[in-house]
Amino acid sequence: MTHSTPLSPAGDRHFDGLAEKFAGSLYGGPRGALRLALLDELLPAMLDLDGQPMLDVGGGLGQLSAWFAGRGHTVTLLEPAGEMLERARVDLVEWPVTFVEAPLQALPERAPGPWPLIACHAVLEWLSDPRAALATLAGALAPHGQLSLMVFNRDALRMSNVVKGNLQKALDDRLEGTGKRQRLTPISPLCHEQIATWSRDCGLSVRSVAGIRVFHDYLRHPPTSEADWQRLVALERRYCQAEPHWRLGRYLLYTLVRAEGSSEEAPR
Ligand SMILES: C[S@@+](CC[C@H](N)C(=O)[O-])C[C@H]1O[C@@H](n2cnc3c(N)ncnc32)[C@H](O)[C@@H]1O
Repeated sequence: MTHSTPLSPAGDRHFDGLAEKFAGSLYGGPRGALRLALLDELLPAMLDLDGQPMLDVGGGLGQLSAWFAGRGHTVTLLEPAGEMLERARVDLVEWPVTFVEAPLQALPERAPGPWPLIACHAVLEWLSDPRAALATLAGALAPHGQLSLMVFNRDALRMSNVVKGNLQKALDDRLEGTGKRQRLTPISPLCHEQIATWSRDCGLSVRSVAGIRVFHDYLRHPPTSEADWQRLVALERRYCQAEPHWRLGRYLLYTLVRAEGSSEEAPR
């Protein structure tokens, strides 16, 4: 059954009605496994982690919150879709996680911080105003606080459309989804230049960047043996931060650091 799922009053795609599909298609298969394997290696390398409190914005089903909680962080998971949050609450019952049902735009009231560490993965591309959202995240960071930001890469979406033969769609640059029905094509896919410019405009510096799935999504023949799967994982690991490959990762993963000083203390 397909049914229309309205956007939020702010024009964002909250994942109410999508939890099951999201769990299956984004985390159920090899794409999700690869993403988690790469994050497992990249996050400790790209972030200074010392068990500081962290905020997971648009935390969805809580996989990332569980990763940080498992490494000694107390976690606050902010998520506007009640259905996603309920599933996360059940799955993360063992961990020190506080759940807040609210959108990113309510961050200043509902989880003001300032935070030494914020993660916002695969959320900005579902918002009607991702630039304003990045400024809100920057405003919630403590001085020298780190933002682990992951966004769906518009340049990779173009590439995969061409590879699949959707040539007119690519020529017309009609890449974004509408956010209607059960589709998981983001409404605001983003490119590196936007993140670099917007970060600078809101006082964040780009400390490091990586591409998540720089090869997998373009394969004509996905691996069928465990040995080939391991070879693919090794290739993804080797080239995820190398020029020019990271630029065509399905997602772009950033560590952004708030540079300017502030008199506010981070919670510890
Ligand atoms: C693709 S999922 C990513 C979930 C999780 N961060 C992850 O990486 O697995 C996008 C999430 O963003 C949430 N979302 C949509 N609009 C939002 C908003 N305005 N503020 C915060 N989260 C939002 C959705 O409800 C959904 O849970």
